[in-house]
Amino acid sequence: MPDSPILLVETDQPAGDVITGVLAQVGYRLTTVTDAGEAFRQAAEHQLVIIDVLGADADAQQLCREIRATPALAPIPVMCISRTNDVEERIRFLEAGADDVIARPFDARELEARVEALLLRFKRTRDRAPVTTLDLGDPGRNRIVACFSPKGGAGTTTIAVNVATAVALRAPDRTLLVDLDLQWGQVATHLNLKARHTIADLAQDSQAQHEPELLRSYAMRHESGLWVLAAPPSPELSETVHAAAIELILGTALEAFDTVIVDAGSVLDERSLTTLERADNIALAVYPEIAALRAVASLLDYLNRTGAVTTRTTFVLNQLFARQLVRLGQVESSLGVKVAAELPYDPFLYLKAVNEGVPLVLGAPRTPPAERLGELATKLFGAAASTPVEHHEGRRGLLGGLLKRT
Ligand SMILES: Nc1ncnc2c1ncn2[C@@H]1O[C@H](COP(=O)(O)OP(=O)(O)OP(=O)(O)O)[C@@H](O)[C@H]1O
Ligand SMILES: [Mg+2]
Repeated sequence: MPDSPILLVETDQPAGDVITGVLAQVGYRLTTVTDAGEAFRQAAEHQLVIIDVLGADADAQQLCREIRATPALAPIPVMCISRTNDVEERIRFLEAGADDVIARPFDARELEARVEALLLRFKRTRDRAPVTTLDLGDPGRNRIVACFSPKGGAGTTTIAVNVATAVALRAPDRTLLVDLDLQWGQVATHLNLKARHTIADLAQDSQAQHEPELLRSYAMRHESGLWVLAAPPSPELSETVHAAAIELILGTALEAFDTVIVDAGSVLDERSLTTLERADNIALAVYPEIAALRAVASLLDYLNRTGAVTTRTTFVLNQLFARQLVRLGQVESSLGVKVAAELPYDPFLYLKAVNEGVPLVLGAPRTPPAERLGELATKLFGAAASTPVEHHEGRRGLLGGLLKRT
């Protein structure tokens, strides 16, 4: 595929001239950079990165590893040119994530053929649309949004409950929140609702899985106008909810409601994969801690590699900690994605909202966390969910009395 832009990482000009000469002759456009940082910054604008290993092995391997660890660069192949035909050397580059290694001395035709093969192979992968699409799409067209995080405690339920409540406040009785954190789901607690029926009951009623009005009878109405389908009351019941039922329930829910928001929890299994596949957009909760970021990177890598889910993803950075050791820019560059919304840290408001069972957009609408959650709802569903309304009601929730006394 001549004309494809190629990035050449090269510290030796004569060697670079040879490679550029060979590839330019068949029509490729090459940009040469001499250092790893510059290569990393420019990689996304190219269709292939060639690393010529003339300096230290370790630097070339490190660059290769960093590119491969960045989900946004997943569609870009990396080729290394090793100094010799030594098997150990070539294996080290393959282990660092190189997609191909060509040994010196090489024939011009071999270089040309390998470049072409790599570009073709990756073009096929790119055509399958990777999951890290950065735009949010048309908010008006998002009908199912799934909130997910590969790590627990990331704020997934807080996001799901508040976004759903913000949407429902603008358009009552047209939004359903489904708790698919099947083992330990706490959506009902966040809303101070007591479930008579749960998704475990609905999963046993095949007729209701097909009929919108029957399905609605398994949900509860919250005072905001939000309808809620609660998680099973005990972890063993979660096993009775199968992926096929979830597929049906989400389909029928769209006939009964305009929008469906799912708390998909933090476990990746057939059931959550069904939900993520069915969703128009995934709101992915991320928090600034290295282990959590690694988990998100490996989730994205898994989804891209398997091609299992090709849904748009909205990254929500939740500042869970009082001290900001990892900043938004670092999160974005380490994951290679753009963060669409950032939730500020607060030592009190989020906790109070859960303990009282009153979502922030309802109980504390003029606070920065509620405003950010309202804005996120707008980004996901359009202006209909823009401003959380003031709401003064003396509801206290599950631990309300207890908190008041202390
Ligand atoms: N930005 C924040 N600042 C301070 N506390 C927060 C913030 N976001 C969430 N919390 C608190 O962190 C806790 C976990 O939040 P939440 O239950 O929404 O996360 P989760 O990902 O659904 O967790 P789980 O894995 O248990 O389902 C809650 O007590 C919540 O109030
Ligand atoms: Mg949760």
